[in-house]
Amino acid sequence: MKALVLAGGAGTRLRPITHTSAKQLVPVANRPILFYGLDHLAAAGVTDVGIVVGETRAAIEQAVGDGSRWGITPTFIHQPEPLGLAHAVLTAAGFLGDDDFVLMLGDNLIERGVEDVLAAFERDRPAAQLLLKKVADPSRFGVAELGPDGGIVRLVEKPVDPPSDLALVGVYLFTPAILDAARRIEPSARGEYEITDAIQRLLDDGARVDASVLDGWWLDTGKKDDLLDANRIVLGTLRGQLDGSVDAGSLVTGDVRIEAGAEVVASTIRGPAVIGAGTRIVESFVGPFTSIAEDCVIERTEIEHSVVLPRCRIRDVGRLEGSLLGHDVTVERTARRPAAHRLLLGDHAEIQIAEG
Ligand code: G1P
Repeated sequence: MKALVLAGGAGTRLRPITHTSAKQLVPVANRPILFYGLDHLAAAGVTDVGIVVGETRAAIEQAVGDGSRWGITPTFIHQPEPLGLAHAVLTAAGFLGDDDFVLMLGDNLIERGVEDVLAAFERDRPAAQLLLKKVADPSRFGVAELGPDGGIVRLVEKPVDPPSDLALVGVYLFTPAILDAARRIEPSARGEYEITDAIQRLLDDGARVDASVLDGWWLDTGKKDDLLDANRIVLGTLRGQLDGSVDAGSLVTGDVRIEAGAEVVASTIRGPAVIGAGTRIVESFVGPFTSIAEDCVIERTEIEHSVVLPRCRIRDVGRLEGSLLGHDVTVERTARRPAAHRLLLGDHAEIQIAEG
């Protein structure tokens, strides 16, 4: 059993963060999203892991390295253009050979491991095994229509009129039959070779496709609010740990991880929250569900339910909530005249200024 992890794609829904970095490396509780999937594979004993990379290949390869952190052996496979999940699988055909594999989307997070589904797949040997999850907004996903016996009748990608509320989770188990099916599909309306259509091909061929409803949460971190939600849920599982310093004038409550070299001065940190290595929090409030990455400075500011990437400077800005800040971002109050907001924003940035 091999694994294929997809870590290419353009990440258009997380712009502007993804103008300069890979969506799979955006941190949740200060760890790249991709790492949680690799944790699950390692725990299930799958060590031969192909990682499909695109434009952001250098950053992904650097982050994963030789895989020794997980005890896996990564093989990086370059997909020259993000032409869809089925296209990514075909790009990896040489790596996959005649082996079964678990396909995992590198921007998805699941709560529970994959051991049980792997065991069921190896026992029952369907052509493919899917995981489904009930969602409130099925039109954003691939959707399964089940028959009266609970078997899959049909799969549709991003349906305008969804036949059910069961979305396809970004974890699939395949026999090599999927490769042949993927070669026989046409691009979808969004111009991509959809894995959903390839699986539908298997169904049309009369092959057996099993599905089970996933236990535990599943998060597709495609957009800002999904990412903040993922951060909130993962931080909810955090254990407090103090490796940095907290002065006598500060108050830390709840589960808070303060990483090595981080300093908390005259501030209140209310967990769950993570303060990254080398970050300084001064005369500030860091509220629940906030992840501050490494080497940031936060002074005289309140911040809650937010994700801040490395090396940001936030000073005297009142209260921030529901925010996602990229690398090296500066937000500060100024006494310069005329009194006005002065912005230097990347493409697709989004600013909301509070009233009053
Ligand atoms: C992809 C799949 C979709 C699946 C989703 C899970 O969508 O095409 O069927 O439900 O991942 O995250 P995409 O993220 O490419 O829009």
